[in-house]
Formats: sequence, structure tokens, C-alpha cells
Amino acid sequence: MIMEPHSSKTLVVTILMSLSLSFAPCLALASTSCKFPAIFNFGDSNSDTGGLSAVFGQARWPHGESYFHGPAGRYCDGRLVIDFIGNQSTDASLGNYQNVTSKSFGLPFLSAYLDSVGSNFSHGANFATAGSTIRPQNTTLRQSGFSPISLDVQYNEFYDFHPRSQVARNRGEIFGKLLPKKEYFSQALYTFDIGQNDLTAGYKLNLTTEQVKAYVPDVLSQLSHTIKIVYEQGGRSFWIHNTGPLGCLPYVLDHFLINPAQIDKYGCADQFNEVAQYFNQRLKEALLHLKKDLPLAAITYVDVYSVKRTLITQTKKYGFENPLVACCGHGGKYNYNRYAKCGTKKTINGIETVIAKSCNDPTVRINWDGVHYTEAANKWIFQQIVNGSFSDPPNPLKMACRRSRMDH
Ligand SMILES: *[C@@H]1O[C@H](CO)[C@@H](O)[C@H](O)[C@H]1NC(C)=O
Ligand SMILES: *[C@@H]1O[C@H](CO)[C@@H](O)[C@H](O)[C@H]1NC(C)=O
Ligand SMILES: *[C@@H]1O[C@H](CO)[C@@H](O)[C@H](O)[C@H]1NC(C)=O
Ligand SMILES: *[C@@H]1O[C@H](CO)[C@@H](O)[C@H](O)[C@H]1NC(C)=O
Ligand SMILES: *[C@@H]1O[C@H](CO)[C@@H](O)[C@H](O)[C@H]1NC(C)=O
Ligand SMILES: *[C@@H]1O[C@H](CO)[C@@H](O)[C@H](O)[C@H]1NC(C)=O
Repeated sequence: MIMEPHSSKTLVVTILMSLSLSFAPCLALASTSCKFPAIFNFGDSNSDTGGLSAVFGQARWPHGESYFHGPAGRYCDGRLVIDFIGNQSTDASLGNYQNVTSKSFGLPFLSAYLDSVGSNFSHGANFATAGSTIRPQNTTLRQSGFSPISLDVQYNEFYDFHPRSQVARNRGEIFGKLLPKKEYFSQALYTFDIGQNDLTAGYKLNLTTEQVKAYVPDVLSQLSHTIKIVYEQGGRSFWIHNTGPLGCLPYVLDHFLINPAQIDKYGCADQFNEVAQYFNQRLKEALLHLKKDLPLAAITYVDVYSVKRTLITQTKKYGFENPLVACCGHGGKYNYNRYAKCGTKKTINGIETVIAKSCNDPTVRINWDGVHYTEAANKWIFQQIVNGSFSDPPNPLKMACRRSRMDH
């Protein structure tokens, strides 16, 4: 397009118009918090609240021991970051959409979409399953440990849920109390925490770090595509976690570390952390592009990597210990044994015994089972991210429906 030279009058008008366009929404921004009546979550085990358990068998005891006092579909001793996010969404920002009592401060725990027993989707659904990747894998769960419920499948579930939940809801009675209202789909917070398994998938296939990096753009273009089509379905507020320090996870150190010289002074494997950071940098760029493509979306990138890395490198300062040792496991340097993962039982003298047990005090531990964080760590992580200190734009959770001034 060829730019015509402005007369000074039209120039002033243009500036005034663009000023009012860019400031009007921001004035509203300052005062009101978002009202998220529902959460729709896409992800892997970091945010699975029962999906994989419903389909492939429950995460065994002692999973869930600290908070739920029994298996609760989570790969953790208690609550996940997504559980704290759900609680906060009402606590701080929902005001009177639901009466807040001393018993209930927030949204109820998110039911896994795949869990057909006792689920309640009135305030959202969780499509995450442990072992999920963004790109569909060419292996079965049994072969590789990766879930068949990759992000494209999670989207299909959501796409099906959206209209069918309304058809069922319109039948009234119990369905009216189990399914979300129509308007919740546009008012909801859409959360994503996925990508870690796409990185380890390459290492499982014996690819080099260079080869893993080479497919990262494809992984992220598939993530961007999913966000776009959720937007087409009415999604507007997106809260997207980046991926954590892979090289500090006991199972990565145990499975994939070939050259021990690549360990940093904290005991983490540089190579894998670099890949995670590479993924995160590309993710941040991909989200910047999306902000341009999706004019009505509020997209918040959340740097969970830095939060987890800080916790692991400054463990004592924050009241934790043994950052690289799993709380629940069966011996070895990292208390992680791939043949006897957390909850593994063995029959000893005719008695079935859990041989991969929990540690004495999970509340001072960071790593739960070699792969996942403890409830105590998840709570700490949540407290760091909730006020926006690790967000880009620096939106706290309760402002995650607001587009930042920079986006205009
Ligand atoms: C929700 O948060 C409140 C405080 O903000 C807390 O008292 C309550 O135990 C939390 N509930 C759940 C289920 O996490
Ligand atoms: C909330 O509480 C008020 C006052 O106690 C009551 O009138 C109202 O019906 C309640 N709303 C819901 C949705 O339960
Ligand atoms: C699975 O196989 C197809 C066909 O060979 C290939 O295009 C795709 O990239 C593979 N997926 C992964 C995650 O390796
Ligand atoms: C589902 O959860 C909502 C919110 O906690 C609650 O109001 C509703 O009664 C529940 N539905 C049923 C059928 O229990
Ligand atoms: C990767 O290498 C290991 C060790 O050499 C081998 O056992 C395994 O079969 C290889 N995996 C693939 C997918 O090639
Ligand atoms: C956010 O919360 C963390 C943890 O409570 C605190 O250290 C940090 O200073 C807070 N940041 C802002 C911007 O309030």
C-alpha cells in the first residue's frame, strides 16, 4: 500500500483516534478483575486430574496421599498447579457468580473429560492426560509411555463437548447441574501446559539434541493451530505455561543422560535444560504471532521454567530439601527406578507390599515421583505465578482476560 502524505489535520485526527482506541479498553482494565466461570485445560501429567487414570488405570497409592488421602487421578501426593488455579479463579475474582462459603472458595476441582464416574463439568473440563504430547506419536502407550490423547485428540474432545454439552444441558434436570452454561465457553479461562513430552519423545527415539531442536517449530505450529481453533470456538482468555527444566528431573537424568560431564553445579543436565529453553523461546515467539492473528484474544505466557529452576537451585532458601531426589520411589541416586516407579507393589513372603513408597515428609520435598512435583512445590509454584511476576504480558491470573496495552 502506498502511503499518502497526511495533512496536519488528518494526522491529528488519526493520532486522537488511535489514542482513544488504545486507551479505552485499558481504563476498564485497571479496576475490574476477570470473571472466569469455567476452566478448560489442555495438557499432560503436569495438569492431569484423572484422564489417564480413568482410561488406563488409577495412579496408585501413595499418589494422592497428602491431600486426597487416596488416589485422585493425579500424579502427585496432592494438588496440582491447575487445582490451585481453579481455586483462585473464584476466590479472588468471581465475586458473586457462586456463593462463597467457608467450605468453598473457588471453582470445584476440574473433572477429567474422560472420567465418566462422578464427573461434574458445570465449571469446565480437563482434557489433559499424563504422557500427552502436542504432536501425535507413532507409538502406543505400552511401547513408549506416551499417551494416545495428544493435543489434537484433546481438541477433538473439546470440539465435541462444546455443542453436545448444550444439547444435554437443554434436557434439564440433572444435566443442567452437570454441564456448563453456553456463555461459559467464551468467558472461560483456557489453560495449556504441554510440550515436555514432545521433547523427551525425540530422546526416546535416540535423536540428538540438534534433531530434537529441529522439530520444535513443527511442535509449536501444532500448538498454535490448536489455540487458533479454540479461539474459533469462542475461547478468548489463554493462560499458557512454558515447559519446565527438563534436565532437573530424576527420570530424565536416569533415562537420557549419556555424558555425566554435562551436569551443572546443581546436578541438572544442561543439554536438556537448553532444549527446554529453546522450546520456550520459540513458544514465546509463536504466541506473539498469535496475538496478531487473534485480535480478541488475551494470551498470557507464563514462565514456569524460571519458577521451577529457582526452586531447584535455591531449595533451602524456600524451605525445601533434596531437589533432585524423588520422594516416592525405589532407591538409587535419585530414588527413581524405572522398573519400580512410585506405588509399585511386590509380593514378599505371600504379602503384597508397596516397594516404591513415599518419603517421610513430602511437604519439604520438591520432586514427587521422579517426573512430577509434590503438592508443596506446586503450591509454591502457583504462589509465584498467580500475581503475574512471571507472566508476559505481566498479567496476574485474575487479569488474564485483559488484553495488554502492548497488544493494541
Ligand atoms: C482454596 O483456597 C482457600 C484460601 O484461598 C483455602 O482455604 C482452601 O482450602 C482452598 N481449597 C482448595 C480445595 O484448595
Ligand atoms: C446467594 O446467597 C444469597 C443470599 O444468601 C441468595 O439470595 C442467593 O439465592 C444465593 N445464590 C445462589 C446462586 O445460590
Ligand atoms: C509419525 O509418522 C508420520 C509418517 O511417517 C510422520 O509424518 C510423523 O512426523 C511421525 N510423528 C512423529 C511424532 O514422529
Ligand atoms: C456440580 O458442581 C456445581 C458447582 O460446584 C454444583 O453447583 C452442582 O450442584 C453440581 N452438580 C451436581 C449434580 O451435583
Ligand atoms: C535407542 O538406543 C538404545 C540403546 O542403544 C536401544 O536399546 C534402543 O532400542 C534404541 N531405540 C530406538 C527407538 O532406536
Ligand atoms: C508475587 O508473589 C511472589 C511470591 O509471593 C513475590 O515474591 C513477588 O514479589 C510478587 N510479585 C509482585 C509483582 O507482586
